[in-house]
Amino acid sequence: MQSVKIVEVGPRDGLQNEKRPLSAEIKLELIRRLAGTGLSAIEAGAFVSPKWVPQMAGSAEVLAALDTTGAIAYPVLVPNDMGLDAALAAGAREIAVFGAASESFSQKNINASIAESLQRFASVARRALDAGVKVRGYVSCVVGCPYEGRIAPHKVADVAKALADLGCYEISLGDTIGVGTPASVREMLDAVLDVLPAGQLAGHFHDTYGMAVANIRAALDVGLRVFDASVAGLGGCPYARGASGNVATEDVAYLLAGEGYHTGIDLTKLVDVAWFIADALGKPPASKLAHALGRQG
Ligand code: HMG
Ligand code: MG
Repeated sequence: MQSVKIVEVGPRDGLQNEKRPLSAEIKLELIRRLAGTGLSAIEAGAFVSPKWVPQMAGSAEVLAALDTTGAIAYPVLVPNDMGLDAALAAGAREIAVFGAASESFSQKNINASIAESLQRFASVARRALDAGVKVRGYVSCVVGCPYEGRIAPHKVADVAKALADLGCYEISLGDTIGVGTPASVREMLDAVLDVLPAGQLAGHFHDTYGMAVANIRAALDVGLRVFDASVAGLGGCPYARGASGNVATEDVAYLLAGEGYHTGIDLTKLVDVAWFIADALGKPPASKLAHALGRQG
């Protein structure tokens, strides 16, 4: 049986756009419950400016309370050297730098052009790798941009390759506003696969138009075996207005089980976590599965 890895991004991507701020205790409880479902990678927070994304304040407290040396990876987002210093001090063993294939989105999201961002990431990646810390890379707006519309696939390939050249072991390709369909996702992936192997790529789909599961199926067809997802379908980017949540982890796990892939995830436990975080946020889970199976605990 082939394996597919799910990178749980709920505690970061899922919570970064929520109006109701959650305490570090609730975030930690969420992460601990997720860790009990069989997930092997859980994005635990972001070392970004709290003025830009107040929801991620407290990420140091959260990360410092986790066992970052065990079997489960707890990557955190890092935009610059200052964020890296704080992440290392909190015990990070894996970080993620995040760029974009769209100039406008790069400016709005991290206040830098694509070229400037790659310069920043070069320093961050070198220092992280020297400290024995793994570095993942994100490319946002791989199909469309909230400010520029359609993004040419070759631009995605260029940024993905640049991040790989900086030492990122994996590049996560983000359909930030969820506009992709299997055809446009395939076209984008074909361009990226011309410069990087499928084994170095991950798919990161938001479900704004309900296409995320179909897009994952399309990405599986061209060899991708790592997907980001967010429990209860939480998520969105504060700098991508209209972008809805990430594809729900439980929906992805259900798809993958049905397609015959091993994920190591206990679906019943995962649905329980979806209801836990939905209750904490005061809204129902966005996934199909949480409603189909109902409350488990
Ligand atoms: P800037 O304003 O250009 O930064 O922001 P600066 O270097 O000029 O510093 C300004 C102030 O920010 C200073 O504080 C710095 O100390 C502070 P002041 O002197 O004014 O008090 N500062 C920091 N504080 C804490 N941690 C730091 C840090 N750096 C500077 N690391 C910056 C530039 C990159 C910091 C800012 O734009 C930022 O934090 N952006 C993050 C935006 C973000 O988190 N977006 C969401 C994540 S991306 C995403 O969701 C997409 C993804 O899911 C994939 C997909 O879906 O496509 C990954
Ligand atoms: Mg995202």
